[in-house]
Amino acid sequence: MNASPAAAGSGSGPRPAARVAGFEPSVFSVYAQLAHEHEAIDLGQGYPSDGPPGFVRDALREASKGPQQYAPMRGLPALRREIAFDHGRWTGNELDPDRHVLVTVGATEALFAAFQAVLDPGDEAIVFEPWYDAYPAQIRMAGGVPVPVPLVRGRDGRWTVDPDRLEAAVGPRTRAIVVTNPHNPSGTVLREEEADLLVRAAERAGAVLVADEVYEHLSFGGPLRLATRPGAWERTLSISSFGKSFSATGWKVGWTIGPEELIHGLAMAHQWIPFAVATPLQVAAAEALRRAREQNDRYYRELRAEFARRADALIAALEGGPLHAVRPDGGYFVLADASALPYQDDVAACRDLPARAGVGAIPPSAFYAPERRHLAAHHLRLAFCRPAHELAEAGRRLSDAFADRRPPRPPKEHRPT
Ligand SMILES: Cc1ncc(COP(=O)(O)O)c(C=O)c1O
Repeated sequence: MNASPAAAGSGSGPRPAARVAGFEPSVFSVYAQLAHEHEAIDLGQGYPSDGPPGFVRDALREASKGPQQYAPMRGLPALRREIAFDHGRWTGNELDPDRHVLVTVGATEALFAAFQAVLDPGDEAIVFEPWYDAYPAQIRMAGGVPVPVPLVRGRDGRWTVDPDRLEAAVGPRTRAIVVTNPHNPSGTVLREEEADLLVRAAERAGAVLVADEVYEHLSFGGPLRLATRPGAWERTLSISSFGKSFSATGWKVGWTIGPEELIHGLAMAHQWIPFAVATPLQVAAAEALRRAREQNDRYYRELRAEFARRADALIAALEGGPLHAVRPDGGYFVLADASALPYQDDVAACRDLPARAGVGAIPPSAFYAPERRHLAAHHLRLAFCRPAHELAEAGRRLSDAFADRRPPRPPKEHRPT
């Protein structure tokens, strides 16, 4: 017999598991929707609105004529070959596409599979605040415990790892240290000494370094890949995203590179998540990587230069307006100082900006543990991955909407309490 509607919600009916019951829709869906409703320039979510270059679109068109059935579990051999070849020549590590590479549904699935593969229940994973918000949620879904370590901000506006805080956070249950480089949301790129600090901490703990390098090609001064540092390779999972490197975030094609045993662990998780990644997209991604390589990497150099121009365009667009940002080292985002805006906090600002100014932003307090959200109360995350004319228009709109607001002071040194 069917249960009556009255029984629904009585506690005995179907309901989501505790694992997901506490999750709320991510800030990206909430604020992208708000920007859309107000037809705002959305500087919230990280995607380049002008999309991939012609040769990537051509590769996708050609792939529609190729195989359409399931791909091999670890990824199409042609794509894994390209990934291994590129990463190998950029890092100096000798890679075997069959043992060291796994193709995933974007970097998001790579991260999910990584936490499933390295964390046992109760194991700890260090995550730096402000974080990419998938990390703590995915760590918890793997039964792990996220251990936040706040980044500190110097007078130059750069966000960096505090060695003492890192040291204090590493303990006997530390199994992973998660690092985003270039960093989202701050735009900081690791320096060699910072990378070495992380490698040494992971060595001491016997932990895996989960290196989220989705913005590897968007480091304006050239990339620093964690796997190139002494002692790093054997404990590092290097995660990247075709979507970020080719301005095609909707493809959701990513990969992980690492030592054989760890990649095997990830593959064992991956086979029960999607099993394999969309075949035509892998065919097209392999072709795009090949074409980029055959142009002697000109594509990557131009991408980097273009995004550096966009970062400058955003900084210039904000000048004279109510927000202040320092130039990032790379990535898609800046954390702008919003203390001159007439709002109680970043959430109130982001709720109102699409209607009042026609500009969308993300409240960075979502990237902190609840007890430290106040640290982000007067910042906004803004994406500069948009074409320069959109950035200039967003700057004009903000200046017009808050014409009465003085430009804020340069950022104060910021040390979390
Ligand atoms: C730091 C970081 N990691 C991972 C991802 C997800 O990448 P993908 O779209 O390839 O799943 C993003 C996307 O914004 C990101 O910013």
